[in-house]
Amino acid sequence: MLPVRLDRADPRPLGSQLADQIRALVLSGALAGGDRMPASRRLATDLGVSRSVVEQAFDQLLAEGWIEARQGAGTWVAGGRSGARSRPARRRTPVVERALVMLDAGTPWIDPRHEAVWRRAWREVSTATPPRGYDDPRGLPELRALVAERLGRTRGLAVDGDAVRITSGTGAGLRHLLAVLPRDPVAVEDPGYRAAVAMVLESGRSVRDLPALEPVADLAGCAAAYVTPAHQHPLGRVMPAADRLTLLATARRDGALVVEDDYDSEFRYDVAPVPALASLDRDRVAYLGTASKSILPSLRLGWTVVPDRVLDRFDAHRALTHDAPPWPVQRALVTLLRDGYVDAVVRSARRTYAERAPRVVAALEPYAELAGPVAGMYSTWLLPHARAVRARAAAEEAGFRVNLLRDYCRTARLSGLVVGFGGPTDDELDLALDALVSGLRRS
Ligand SMILES: Cc1ncc(COP(=O)(O)O)c(C=O)c1O
Repeated sequence: MLPVRLDRADPRPLGSQLADQIRALVLSGALAGGDRMPASRRLATDLGVSRSVVEQAFDQLLAEGWIEARQGAGTWVAGGRSGARSRPARRRTPVVERALVMLDAGTPWIDPRHEAVWRRAWREVSTATPPRGYDDPRGLPELRALVAERLGRTRGLAVDGDAVRITSGTGAGLRHLLAVLPRDPVAVEDPGYRAAVAMVLESGRSVRDLPALEPVADLAGCAAAYVTPAHQHPLGRVMPAADRLTLLATARRDGALVVEDDYDSEFRYDVAPVPALASLDRDRVAYLGTASKSILPSLRLGWTVVPDRVLDRFDAHRALTHDAPPWPVQRALVTLLRDGYVDAVVRSARRTYAERAPRVVAALEPYAELAGPVAGMYSTWLLPHARAVRARAAAEEAGFRVNLLRDYCRTARLSGLVVGFGGPTDDELDLALDALVSGLRRS
């Protein structure tokens, strides 16, 4: 029996309590990579809860990558975390998964017509001379200047290259901030970005749930609030101007840093992108940008602009840990920005998303309610959980993976589907929508 205890007096749902405790057991090493999890039916009986409580916890942990499952073979702790007692033979071989086409919120569409610039960038890297020692931990100066120019032009964030730091993506920027912030809890939108939640927990802090669509009126005792104001992840709403001001005033009053995750803000096709929150208060907001949506997630590049009062500690931490992206990747991004590649792929992707979004809406609208305006490369649909699960199963049978809204929720009680449309081809998208619709019709 797992050493967990659920408290019915605790306002958090039983499934979240169970997921939190299993996560803590893995983090503490009490459960190690390869350890088999009890069957959901047995665990439910042991704990005196319904099986759906255990399934909700397992779904959450599966989505976060803490546990793995294969149909018919059971569930076990993901192999090799912290290197502890991993049993490679029992690790999941994701044969079925690899074949699934991802309709997730994060996979962008990249226009292959611009590949010539991409190739030129790598040719330039191959003929340039790399630095002989550890390079500037803040990032290549010419890259920081180009990123600053683009932030001013596209995000209303007037900074020069000196203020920009190049990171290995949003997550790296957040980890560097967590390394220098007070060890107090961090507030994260609920539903919200699961990787941010995982990183806050891994930093040894607790997460405070911020109801995603409500103004933030209290951050007392929090080191920071992690938000996605340009396109709330995953509900899709733009944070209204009044709520932006309330958030900044609350953060100032309570001494918390606002961490702005600006992951896909450029991909609005109805209105112009809302300027970055950081443009309203550079002293209160740490800005996190990424190349993952506009260029490629596998590039592992991003940028941050952090308030001056944390900048020295932030830089010292990065210099100490040598935690900067590889020089060749930074050097390639210099060419991609300089030669207009990024602007061109963003423009074409925006056109593609603007064409695909109404197709997705037309297909799913008769069966589900949109959670927020469609922007970026995904749409989020509200549905009873059981229907969402059935629709997802129908998509999976047809070879597509979509995510459940519940997997992004902690205390929020929302259910439905998060349907991405950046990753598939046009034909795949049609097939996936047919499969989802047939699943929704059946349920
Ligand atoms: C909310 C959110 N923020 C940031 C990112 C990008 O993270 P990274 O820059 O680490 O690839 C994603 C990717 O899906 C995301 O969904």
